[in-house]
Amino acid sequence: MYNLANKRVLLGVTGGIAAYKCAELVRRLREQGAEVQVAMTRGAREFVTPLTFQALSGRPVRTELFSNEAEAAMGHIELARWADCVLVAPASANFIARLAAGLADDLLTTLCLATTAPIALAPAMNVQMWNNPATSANVRVLKERGVILFGPATGDQACGETGPGRMLEPGQLVEALTLLFQREDRLRGQCVLITAGPTQETIDPVRYISNRSSGRMGYALCKAALNAGAEVTLITGPVALEPPAGARVVQVRTALEMRDAVMAEAGQADIYIAAAAVADYRCAEDAATKIKKTAGILTLRLTPNPDILAEVAALPRAPFTVGFAAETESLREHAKAKLAGKHLDMIAANLVGEGKGFERPDNALEVYWQGGERSLPLAAKERIATQLMELIADRYHEKNKN
Ligand code: CTP
Repeated sequence: MYNLANKRVLLGVTGGIAAYKCAELVRRLREQGAEVQVAMTRGAREFVTPLTFQALSGRPVRTELFSNEAEAAMGHIELARWADCVLVAPASANFIARLAAGLADDLLTTLCLATTAPIALAPAMNVQMWNNPATSANVRVLKERGVILFGPATGDQACGETGPGRMLEPGQLVEALTLLFQREDRLRGQCVLITAGPTQETIDPVRYISNRSSGRMGYALCKAALNAGAEVTLITGPVALEPPAGARVVQVRTALEMRDAVMAEAGQADIYIAAAAVADYRCAEDAATKIKKTAGILTLRLTPNPDILAEVAALPRAPFTVGFAAETESLREHAKAKLAGKHLDMIAANLVGEGKGFERPDNALEVYWQGGERSLPLAAKERIATQLMELIADRYHEKNKN
């Protein structure tokens, strides 16, 4: 059986003595059915020649960002799109630092910035370099951005020292990559419907009521669902974010528009994730002309909006329905009450206020479902989204087994 059949692996090789093991790695990846394109940094070429990898991968090795000939065959952006996964092995301390800094100063860093595929690093370096606080900080930044670490292993090193910093063996890397792809494929063929961002409720032609939702959590979930192989429809309120490539995007403004868009799609969805901060109320009258200033108090009458989440969960063939709960206190109690009250399959609750939740790049979630719960500690929303999507996939498959 070929565990990596038709998977396109972009193997980045950077400057470290472990580069020699990557010849074996390429051979094993090919044995498992993967297509392998090797890109080498200048440092890597001090250890192994491109010809070695060319012979083993069956493709010309890419080394330069500015190469007329190579770019004519396949441009670097095209190559970044081609990859199902980028594996950098060995990943040197210098490469990790350049990636953490977001540099695009050679072909491999540029490919890593340009790709939407998952990036996995197999670090290999001297134990002191690995333990250096600079490297630790860079690794932390990259993990928060969703970069995956394979290893390093602990043991004897080429420099004569012992400790963490050894690159995983080729067989272990192939195994780790296989598991990564299995995880990536968890929602292949499933339709995931996600709402994101705030809604805007019209007061008059120039004014509206809204909230501080940035849409970042919903957009991160959209990306995580795409990474898991799902077909994703994103129904989004007005936000200042670029929608992830590959999702079908429906732009809406008001809660009523969001409800209509959601109900039009919910019948085809396998999973519904309500990450939008839908306004609970809209103006009872929306003024046709701009409301003029007067000396007295102005009163706006508000009427409740439909609860989209509850409507979806009440459908006869409801998708696996995941709600969010933003609470300022008694998180667990309120979240569990909403889980039961709205007949949800799962609820992801977070504390808001006092600098938490909205308008922040990070988040922490308490996730509840019938008979289980899990804490996702504070991390970048992208990382939290990946973890939440894994939980959703687990519970979704569990439910469908029964
Ligand atoms: N939601 C929705 N439609 C609404 C309001 C909220 O679909 N009109 C969804 C949100 O997308 C979120 C969940 O309901 O997934 C929870 O929203 P939240 O404001 O925490 O809870 P409410 O149900 O509004 O309850 P409360 O205001 O009492 O906390």
